[in-house]
Amino acid sequence: MKPHHTYEELYNQSISNPAEFWKQQAGSLAWFKHPNNILSKDENGLDRWFADGQLNTSYLAIDYHVENGRKDQVALIYDSPVTNTVERFTYGQMQEQVAKLAGGLTELGVTKGDRVIIYMPMIPEAVFSMLACARIGAVHSVVFGGFAAHELAIRMDDAKPKVLITANYGIEIDRYIHYKPIVDEAIGLSAHPPTQVVVLNRGEAVPFETHERDCDYRKLVHSATPAPCVALNATDPLYILYTSGTTGKPKGIVRDNGGHAVVLKFSMDAIYGCQPGETFWAASDVGWVVGHSYIVYAPLIQGCTTVLFEGKPIKTPDASTFWRVISEHQVNVMFTAPTAIRAIRKEDPSGAFLKKHDLGCLRTQFLAGERCDAATLHWLEEQLNVPVIDHWWQTESGWPMLANMVGTELLPVKAGSAGKPVCGYDIQVLDEEGQPCAAGEEGYVAVKLPLPPGCLPTLYNDTPRFRESYLSKFPGYYFSGDGGYRDDEGYVFITGRVDDVINVAGHRLSTAEMEEIVAAHPAVAECAVIGIQNELKGQVPLAIVVSRPDIEPSKDQLEAQIISSVREQIGAVAALKNVAIAKRLPKTRSGKTLRKTIRMIADGRDYTIPSTIDDPAILDEITDLLKTVKVCKLSTAAA
Ligand code: COA
Ligand code: AMP
Repeated sequence: MKPHHTYEELYNQSISNPAEFWKQQAGSLAWFKHPNNILSKDENGLDRWFADGQLNTSYLAIDYHVENGRKDQVALIYDSPVTNTVERFTYGQMQEQVAKLAGGLTELGVTKGDRVIIYMPMIPEAVFSMLACARIGAVHSVVFGGFAAHELAIRMDDAKPKVLITANYGIEIDRYIHYKPIVDEAIGLSAHPPTQVVVLNRGEAVPFETHERDCDYRKLVHSATPAPCVALNATDPLYILYTSGTTGKPKGIVRDNGGHAVVLKFSMDAIYGCQPGETFWAASDVGWVVGHSYIVYAPLIQGCTTVLFEGKPIKTPDASTFWRVISEHQVNVMFTAPTAIRAIRKEDPSGAFLKKHDLGCLRTQFLAGERCDAATLHWLEEQLNVPVIDHWWQTESGWPMLANMVGTELLPVKAGSAGKPVCGYDIQVLDEEGQPCAAGEEGYVAVKLPLPPGCLPTLYNDTPRFRESYLSKFPGYYFSGDGGYRDDEGYVFITGRVDDVINVAGHRLSTAEMEEIVAAHPAVAECAVIGIQNELKGQVPLAIVVSRPDIEPSKDQLEAQIISSVREQIGAVAALKNVAIAKRLPKTRSGKTLRKTIRMIADGRDYTIPSTIDDPAILDEITDLLKTVKVCKLSTAAA
């Protein structure tokens, strides 16, 4: 990025001549072969960036810095309040760890294009594993540790990995999560399990069963010959990250090497304003896109120090932990989810914990992952006394789509808005017919094609689903799945998903997937799972179930069985804790369940009775039922 541009100048350049704009940005990376073909179509007619360029993302993230004066700079700080550990790795040490692990994977037969699943807690070896795959051109697919064996197996079946890397345990506050048995169970469930499992033994406290396919992480690394960085095409995949869609089958978001590296570097300058040598902390998890982009790749490509935090905003040990990490590691720019701030505020409303730490190092605080309510934003602004920037993005984009690009200039912050379109994103709010909405009018948030570099080029092995999910609703646009509106100054306000995706404590989940699991219970005749508003987590799922007349279990038993089957199949992170047993569900005359209306009732919002409803009397029944559910807004109103 060239300095001295206003946001508007830079944004207009990116939209009026995208190829020229991104060619310039690409110039700031150390390519093995600089691209000449900036924007082209692939064999499926889809847009691709930098098709003839060659590079290696692991080289850009590590080796480049070792060769350019940062060998002894700390690249990664591992801070783990759950194990009382702080460890620092320089770029030089990272290179050694990553090159040897890459050599070990090569000895296991992993080559360019092979998939490697990484199912690990927030430990440095998770980062080394991602970078080791990138080094040899293997495609990593990190699976979030909160997902259960069934979810892991679904991802194995789609990715068909050659190797899986795991650890024997993770720690949730004070509870061991036994990763290895989950992996073994998933392998038993999968039609395409990995042939080898690399296991990091974090300690004997959590013993585990070993199998012939298992191999010890440390032994593998110890005896391996370091592997060099291979030259990859810009369009070769770096990773697949599965995310919840509107069916039970998650979508395999593909990320390429070239576009991804270019935009991450650009974003560190232009959005986050974080310079090489500074410290960046994204308090997320490597299992989510934020972790991929802003714990691992972007800060390292930028030559920053990144923080890997194995803890929670509260309870590890208390609500002061974020402030301790910022001050102890001199964090300059931080990124977290509003839900984490809500959790801290609840425990420490006056900010007493915060005041105990010197946070003078912190320049900007970013929030994303879910809608940020004004109260949380203002509380944080007051406590930190630095700009608090809400910004909007998705697993699909891999980097922000709306933001206040503070690296160019700090625009006034408007509570409730995630800012203005980021360079490269021609964001439009469209009505049902695909026509632009007037200022203030709510519609569907879409991006005019081409998407900028870094965004998903397709879904793994499923281009038809890619087209259908994102490109078919509004021809010529990418449809985000979010609703929102734009004000007369161009700020965009995201109002929430318009599909079956919900956001629970910053975790993206599919109500359709939960519904499939609930519906499979033999005592369930039909059901609807909806996301309802929640003060702490943003949203939580609620299952409304109609049981069979010849129902075996009691109401309490059925509720408990439904809750545990969702937990067993998706994982604890699904957080389905509320089930309501209804006599019937409100439907249209053609038999479609009126989920939106149920949601409005549960949230205590005004709604109009849909003209297509079969029997309006059911709405009164549902209202009465929802008054009995603790988490519904109606229960408060009724009390
Ligand atoms: N491995 C195993 N289990 C996990 C897990 C993991 N990596 N992450 C979460 N879980 C479990 C939790 O232990 C909890 O289990 P429980 O029902 O037995 O208590 C369950 O999944 C739900 O977790 P969560 O929704 O996170 O709720 P919580 O009450 O444990 O914590 C917060 C609340 C707000 C502290 C926590 O959700 C949080 O830190 N959110 C921020 C998330 C974030 O940063 N997202 C990234 C977006 S940028
Ligand atoms: P994920 O793919 O997990 O990053 O989740 C993406 C979804 O989270 C988006 O489609 C939005 O619904 C929601 N989201 C992310 N950031 C924001 C934000 N700043 N404001 C409102 N919603 C957000």
